[in-house]
Amino acid sequence: MPARTTKLLSPHEIDTAADIIRTGGLVAFPTETVYGLGANALDAAAARSIFTAKKRPSFDPLIVHLATLHDVSRVAADIPEKALKAFEAFWPGPFTAILPKKECVPDVVTAGLPTVGVRIPRNELAHTLIERSGCVVAAPSANLFSHTSPTTAAAVEQMLSGRIDAIVEGGACHVGVESTIVSFCEDPPVVYRAGGVSIEEVEACIGPVRTAPSKGDEKKAPGRSLRHYAPQTPLYLNAQQSDFPQGASLGLLAFGPEGNRHGYEVVQNLSCTGNLTEAARNLYAFMRSFDEYDLSAILVETIPFTGLGRAINDRLLRASEDGFKKEAFPQGS
Ligand code: TXA
Ligand code: MG
Repeated sequence: MPARTTKLLSPHEIDTAADIIRTGGLVAFPTETVYGLGANALDAAAARSIFTAKKRPSFDPLIVHLATLHDVSRVAADIPEKALKAFEAFWPGPFTAILPKKECVPDVVTAGLPTVGVRIPRNELAHTLIERSGCVVAAPSANLFSHTSPTTAAAVEQMLSGRIDAIVEGGACHVGVESTIVSFCEDPPVVYRAGGVSIEEVEACIGPVRTAPSKGDEKKAPGRSLRHYAPQTPLYLNAQQSDFPQGASLGLLAFGPEGNRHGYEVVQNLSCTGNLTEAARNLYAFMRSFDEYDLSAILVETIPFTGLGRAINDRLLRASEDGFKKEAFPQGS
């Protein structure tokens, strides 16, 4: 891949970013969940260059980001009643719907699937960028394949500088974990990824959903089984200090006010008060921060499975050595 000069753009330069998208380039931009790497979704060559820049396997489809509800019908062939209800409740926001796709959406975006993922982000800069570009914008998280998702412009720069055209600097992301993905191509709807809208909120809005994987899901949601989000330092969910040789330098990803935190080289507490919203916001930056130390391993305290805790636990499992061994996730982005 020929090197690109990556411009750092301030929020005042959003029109420059919109021009780059419109003319087939690649722009990383903030959303409320994580930074995305955007390109015109209806331009197959532009969308293909996202996969090259990220080193992402071509079988993993991209979410298409929209400015308004009207844009859904630009890419989706059908919008079931339950999907409309969810849009009213959760958009703009960290919610992605999988719907039957229209023919104009290139195969490279959907990885050849007959469906398309759509989301209207809540972040003001993301909204302005999409609106001013006039495009529907395909955007995965702006990280390299299998690495931790970026929640700051600096984290994007570290991974993708020289590989993309621009990064819009928009501060830290508020939600901190990716959108919740729900497929409306089946009834009851199926949750493909826990995320920034809790399953409890989704069910309160549209009724029961299926969360357990079933046969055939791997084909309908190829990203579901990928190993993801991994920091460079190995991370263990079910390990104790005593599992490591004496003197090994260990990091602890803590949660809440209580805990035995002696003997660690570094302790990062996701939320000292046990607040899951705060923990989600801190998750990726804290996971990444352990790589600044020369640690043998990162251990993790228990985090409840309720609300945003489900998304946090999902990301930790996929980033962990435990998840890699037990579920045999292939390497993924
Ligand atoms: O919060 C988010 O969703 C962020 C921001 C940038 O919007 N985006 C994001 O994109 O997390 P990405 O590519 O890192 O994760 C999108 C996931 C992938 O696992 C992909 O497999 C799944 O969405 N996906 C996209 N389109 C799909 C489709 N048509 N059917 C099933 N899964 C789909
Ligand atoms: Mg991703």
